[in-house]
Amino acid sequence: MVSTSSKPLNIDLSRIRSDIQALQPQLVAWRRKLHQRPELGFQEHLTAEFVAEKLQEWGIEHQTGIAKTGIVATIRGQRSEVRQKEKETVLAIRADMDALPIQEENDVPYRSQHDGVMHACGHDGHTAIALGTAYYLSQHLDTFSGTVKIIFQPAEEGPGGAKPMIEAGVLKNPDVDAIVGLHLWNNLPLGTVGVRSGALMAAVEKFHCTILGKGGHGAMPHQTIDSVVVAAQIVNALQTIVARNVDPIESAVVTVGELHAGTALNVIADTARMSGTVRYFNPKLEGYFAQRIEQVIAGICQSHGAKYELNYSHLYPPVINDPGMAEFVRSQAVRVVETPLGIVPECQTMGGEDMSFFLQQVPGCYFFLGAANLSKNLAYPHHHPRFDFDETALGMGVEIFVRCVENFS
Ligand code: NI
Repeated sequence: MVSTSSKPLNIDLSRIRSDIQALQPQLVAWRRKLHQRPELGFQEHLTAEFVAEKLQEWGIEHQTGIAKTGIVATIRGQRSEVRQKEKETVLAIRADMDALPIQEENDVPYRSQHDGVMHACGHDGHTAIALGTAYYLSQHLDTFSGTVKIIFQPAEEGPGGAKPMIEAGVLKNPDVDAIVGLHLWNNLPLGTVGVRSGALMAAVEKFHCTILGKGGHGAMPHQTIDSVVVAAQIVNALQTIVARNVDPIESAVVTVGELHAGTALNVIADTARMSGTVRYFNPKLEGYFAQRIEQVIAGICQSHGAKYELNYSHLYPPVINDPGMAEFVRSQAVRVVETPLGIVPECQTMGGEDMSFFLQQVPGCYFFLGAANLSKNLAYPHHHPRFDFDETALGMGVEIFVRCVENFS
């Protein structure tokens, strides 16, 4: 199904590059327009309207309103070579469209016009790259065979648009054989691509816990059950799960990010609330942390006579790339960055992504496209109010996707 040969079929290499370079001003204009009108998850109405308008203008078949604001575009190649295939291949390309509840601090002409909402993760760029890919392919139908589905997904930042899109059938009819997707990435410099086989990003789980003690006078602790003391012991003990229970060869994180208790310095608080996040790569650890965290909390509460309420949820599974597809994407990306040194396999992160749900359904590869440029002061981390990226990466993203399409089948 996947050709990993480094030779494309009858493709003029310089033609792809020059056609995409000609598209670069459009890519920048689309990205900036999207950047000015950021929208939160499942509210991407203006964004979806913009995408649909473009697809309509280019005569590309598409379906809107999938999982509220999602869109799927379908493009059929017309390359005439005879293939020894049982059926035509279907490759999906996924782009997320949502923004974050952050007030932008960049002073640029294209800064966010929506108060308190900002494209601080680069999803505006992802949407522009997917649009550019759709446009390019629609203008070069004779350069590929099979079908390409471009999935414009809502709500990656939460609560997650991938799952409802899959449930709505976006991977069916025609059935998708493989999927690719990218994230513009400021942890990598422009001109590099992070591709790896296996785990790329972590599973994301979260918990909220309330410790129910017994309040009282700060000078009379013997009459109380001090929820602050219980919570403090729990916070410490939770750290031993990664340090003492998980195989040290595995990577995992337990972070308690919130801890709230008390109203006055001389009052013992009857309740304490904490919440945190859990990350890990190995899918076999699913369920482990939920169980172990509860054991720790229950044990400590019991020893103090306190009670607890625990709410634990699994959000996203880990992002696991198929080895064959990772090698395929690497073989295409290396021709865009033009040197094997531009491929960075050590690009794992404990961040999460709901691309993982697509990768559980079909083999695929999610990769990072280097977008930082220190010389232009474009290196703020993702989700920072001054996040921005080097827009040169937009054309590179389109070129990688186009090469994947032309060589997949
Ligand atoms: Ni993101």
